[in-house]
Amino acid sequence: MKLRSADWFDLPNELGMQNRSVLRTMGWSREFFAGKPVIAIANSWSEFNNCNLGLKVVAEAVKRGVIAGGGVPLEFNTLSLGEELMKPSAMLYRNLVSMEVEEMLRANPVDGVVLLGGCDKTIPALLMGAASANLPSLLVCAGSKLVVNWNGQPIGSGTDLWYYSDQRRAGLLSDSDWQELEETYSCSAGTCNTMGSASTMAILAEALGVMLPDGATLPAVDARRLAHAERSGRQIVELVRRDIRPAQILTRAAFENALRVYFAVGGSTNAILHLLALAGRLMVPLSLDDFDSLARTTPLVVNVRPTGTKLMHDLHDAGGVPAVQHRIQDLLHLDAPTITGRPIADNLRPTRDETVICPPESTMIDKESLVVLHGNLAPRGAILRTATASRRLWQHCGPAFVFNSYQDMMAQIDDPDLPVTAESILVLRYAGAVGVPGLPEWGAIPIPKKLLQQGVVDMVRLSDARMSGTSSGTVVLHITPEAAIGGALALVETGDLIALDVEHRTLNLVISDSALAERQTAWRPPVSEHRRGYPALYREHVLQPDEGCDFDFLRPKSADDLKFVQPVIGRS
Ligand code: FES
Repeated sequence: MKLRSADWFDLPNELGMQNRSVLRTMGWSREFFAGKPVIAIANSWSEFNNCNLGLKVVAEAVKRGVIAGGGVPLEFNTLSLGEELMKPSAMLYRNLVSMEVEEMLRANPVDGVVLLGGCDKTIPALLMGAASANLPSLLVCAGSKLVVNWNGQPIGSGTDLWYYSDQRRAGLLSDSDWQELEETYSCSAGTCNTMGSASTMAILAEALGVMLPDGATLPAVDARRLAHAERSGRQIVELVRRDIRPAQILTRAAFENALRVYFAVGGSTNAILHLLALAGRLMVPLSLDDFDSLARTTPLVVNVRPTGTKLMHDLHDAGGVPAVQHRIQDLLHLDAPTITGRPIADNLRPTRDETVICPPESTMIDKESLVVLHGNLAPRGAILRTATASRRLWQHCGPAFVFNSYQDMMAQIDDPDLPVTAESILVLRYAGAVGVPGLPEWGAIPIPKKLLQQGVVDMVRLSDARMSGTSSGTVVLHITPEAAIGGALALVETGDLIALDVEHRTLNLVISDSALAERQTAWRPPVSEHRRGYPALYREHVLQPDEGCDFDFLRPKSADDLKFVQPVIGRS
């Protein structure tokens, strides 16, 4: 088979010589690279992203594998989307990184690519870019960080931070304890060791079939991760030889398999946006309705925080994704192909620990772990991770208390005179994709201090923002359309009654249609400060959450748009 890179390196003229000399500059001899596939390594390593720090070493192991497999590895760095430092949210830049990856692959002599991602948005960004390029691709993830004990308890990333933060606000944790906790929080490279968005997306990549088995759950600092990376390096060369591309793996069956695994592990709500966006890149039909219907028939069987009690390394020891797939195998398309060259049926294995992956006769909850809600407040949908929501609040009607911005919320939330009770419904709006922009993880509105001090630990909260996968609570998210484009959330007034009904999948503002229409007529959109630059571009082109918040111009509209247009190989 003719390699794509040959269009650059086999030219008989001065351009061929110039192109080959680029590789020689890096020490590759012509005898070594001639005729071999060029494997790009798209590395999202950065010192601004502690979760992805280990990928620098992982890349070296991938290179070893590529060379052993008969390829030429060339690494490039992508923007790195560190969840903790990037503001207002790494999500603002997911689509930008996907474009960066697609364009690096288009513009360069690449035959296949190994994607190195970890912290939340890097994995979907890399996968979206690779899907659009549709060159042979596989993913190696960063792995979860080391588990350290504090006060005799293992620290779960994010989940324990939110828990102890509430303890501190309630006056139950001293300043010295808080300081001690800080010293033990996050003690190695690696992604959150709970079932946050990074863990979820790594698991989904494995479930989709674009990662070698076991890659999702191996801890970051485990030597087996490097061996996995080396194997992945050899495997990408094999994918190029066999011309296996993402579109052959990322089919409707693969997405249904991924959704089954997603519900079985109780994954982060962020994954909904990423799966919708990824499917959209390849015109695979996938909608919010698919999430609701498959959730109804998929048991939650994995006991990892925040829905359970264990951590990611426990899931790995229990058998990882192959064992989860084994547990729910009756629900899977077992003949779906993977980058191993074999169907997922060949990867399954029984669990080694039924305290982490429930045995067939039991599940973590007796109901679906996630629901999609509709109603006059969310005509195009909203979601609730029921697995972490208080059952007593699944049917609840209460008065709204509205915050119009994050700053507004933080300024008031600890006010001892805040006029709310445990029955109130807290609303945070203008926090969506267009509103901020970038729909940050502000949806888990803190419980007001005065209620925390009364022992309240959960209440109904609504937002057009997202929530960290490490968070929990009765939090309705991704309300669509969002407030900033005139969604009904913008029309709620403090004191209005809001009704949530999980059983019937409804979310409604208790108000007449005519009164709602009157408010809609009077509503004016907020003026954004972003008049230029990437944030302005983002606001103009971002789609709503029911379409994964991708850019409108990145989604193909017809089969013709799926073609990956090659550059003209001439003088630059
Ligand atoms: Fe990076 Fe959780 S903050 S993975």
